[in-house]
Amino acid sequence: MGIAGVPNRSGNDGSITRFGWKAQNKSLLIFSGEAYNVEMGITNELFPNERGYPPNPIPTSCLVNPTPEDRTIFDATRMDLVPSDVAAFANFMRFLDQPIPACTTNCSPPIQTGRMLFKAIGCANCHTPSMTTDKSEMADGLSQVPANLFSDLALHHMGGRLADGISQGNAGPDQFRTAPLWGLGQRVFFMHDGRSSNLIHAIQEHAGPGSESNRVIENFDQLSRQNKQNLILFLRSL
Ligand code: HEC
Repeated sequence: MGIAGVPNRSGNDGSITRFGWKAQNKSLLIFSGEAYNVEMGITNELFPNERGYPPNPIPTSCLVNPTPEDRTIFDATRMDLVPSDVAAFANFMRFLDQPIPACTTNCSPPIQTGRMLFKAIGCANCHTPSMTTDKSEMADGLSQVPANLFSDLALHHMGGRLADGISQGNAGPDQFRTAPLWGLGQRVFFMHDGRSSNLIHAIQEHAGPGSESNRVIENFDQLSRQNKQNLILFLRSL
């Protein structure tokens, strides 16, 4: 169907990275550290430099305190280390459970048909319904459990309509990680820039010059009205 996903990779050790709209981040810890600095302006052990504001070339104009602002604290009375907020926040995210779909077995016939169509027309070639986590020392609940994420966590060329002109790691301007569809029924805005609050529109935005999704979206367009409805009901159940 013209679909060929590639993983994004860390510039440091070449291993696969999976977090973020362009799969640009290696771990929740790095994600947390980056967001603390870039989105909130809190320097930390992973990103110790203040982002210049007002912008360069006066990068230190807001620097009134020593960095890093958030850090591991050495508790001298207990002879112990208290984790930084960034590390604590990464752990909070790690232990968030996956969203619970409206049904898995015993789904209504329209939802069952929608699930079948999702595979048949090719959506599942990118939106992989389930993967199993590797063995983890961190907690039993994270070790070898199915993650029903509906993503291959790989990058795809999504064509001129979705391209944002931004490159992150190996991901070029029109490449995006397949958005996980778990919890979709509870989201209001779709796609990386929140351009859509309508699932039919979000599906049609997949098509565009150079998009790997074009054949699949042609299949979608050829579905009967009733079958489009069934597919949407399935998506809303996630
Ligand atoms: C070539 C891979 C590919 C195929 C095929 C594909 N998708 Fe996607 N899908 C993506 C990517 C990548 C995104 C994220 C795009 C963005 O954010 O701009 C996405 C986003 C979405 C979203 C929005 C999710 C969100 O949280 O914002 C929905 C809904 C969706 N796809 C449904 C479908 C359906 C239904 C089909 C089949 C008709 C389909 N997709 C086929 C790759 C694909």
